[in-house]
Amino acid sequence: MTSWINPIEQTYRRLKNEGHDIIRLFSGNPIDEGFHFPGDILQQSYSNYFQNLDYQPESKGLLPAREAIQKYYQNQGATVDAENIFLTTGTSESFFYLFSLLTQPGDNILTPNPSYPLFDPIASLRNIELRHYPLMEEKGWALDIETLKQKTDTKTKAIILVSPHNPTGSVLTADEVMKITDWANEKNIPLICDEVFSEFYFGEGFFPRTISVSKPHLCFTLNGLSKMFALPSMKLSWIAVTGLSEKVIPAVEHLELMADTFLSCHTAIQKTLPIIFEHEESLSFLKNYKNEVRSRRDLAIELFKKSPSLSFTAPQGSFYLMGKILKPVSEEDFVIELMEETGVFVHPGYFFDYEEGSHVVISFLTQPEKIRSGIQALIEFLEK
Ligand SMILES: Cc1ncc(COP(=O)(O)O)c(C=O)c1O
Repeated sequence: MTSWINPIEQTYRRLKNEGHDIIRLFSGNPIDEGFHFPGDILQQSYSNYFQNLDYQPESKGLLPAREAIQKYYQNQGATVDAENIFLTTGTSESFFYLFSLLTQPGDNILTPNPSYPLFDPIASLRNIELRHYPLMEEKGWALDIETLKQKTDTKTKAIILVSPHNPTGSVLTADEVMKITDWANEKNIPLICDEVFSEFYFGEGFFPRTISVSKPHLCFTLNGLSKMFALPSMKLSWIAVTGLSEKVIPAVEHLELMADTFLSCHTAIQKTLPIIFEHEESLSFLKNYKNEVRSRRDLAIELFKKSPSLSFTAPQGSFYLMGKILKPVSEEDFVIELMEETGVFVHPGYFFDYEEGSHVVISFLTQPEKIRSGIQALIEFLEK
């Protein structure tokens, strides 16, 4: 029988079974990389909940949690109405709701390329086509708006923007966002904005959030606690619906029906969310966490710059850096041989549907000592 496990993962499992230590240089899990949200805040809130157990579910999620999210956006100059926010158990669930809301089998959705490999399995559950619009590597991963326009047809039911982006680390500029919004409005297509890395923006000024810099007629902004507060295990994300009321109202009504079917979010974390957003200790954790990720990013950039065989654009956001290998190598062979010879595991570009040349993707969320030894080994191996 053909194995479902790709040769890179097979190599990793074999080496682990043989007892080798492997540095996994692509983690998106803040907890694994030493970022621990202050547990006492959660403990206090959870013990209050379990002492006064109640269960009065709301299909959109509990109002105080939605109000806290509304305030989060308000503090950043974006207007979102708590009545148009939906809590979900993760951004994957948010995408599933939205693909179900917006598409019928045979429709298509435009997604950036390269991209985090999350959309394909969700799209295949809905029998819809994902059409890639390119980010242009030679232009620092800038958006190719003309190709995006060419890919649009009457079956296009949404355009997904991921900014800050995984795996390129690029951030759409306000000008790019405005161009996409103009096009989407003209063609009557909703935008889905994946902003799970919005707190990890390293560019100039403010993060150019789609709903702050443009006026989409219908927009779904996605985010969650997972990356923002290093709380992936708490499983709480959200969808904020904004735009023209004649478009927002029916979308919200339909989403409410869908959410009511599942009522998936755990009550205790919904009750804790306002505390997570407002507690002094939590905000000071967020500040330190962001500073530390920025400093790990600077370290990764500094090390990558030392290699004459890698070219890359310095990430403006997210946890990731994508480097192009300037040597004629097979990407998959390179990743496997690197792991076998040095014990360093990086991701190849093809994991992100990117097949233009050979690439490696690393996460600078990784602990500094692993970034240092991992990238050093990668460079030495490359220069051999
Ligand atoms: C671009 C992007 N969107 C969504 C997710 C998933 O987010 P969540 O943990 O909120 O489900 C990830 C996870 O790494 C991601 O990289």
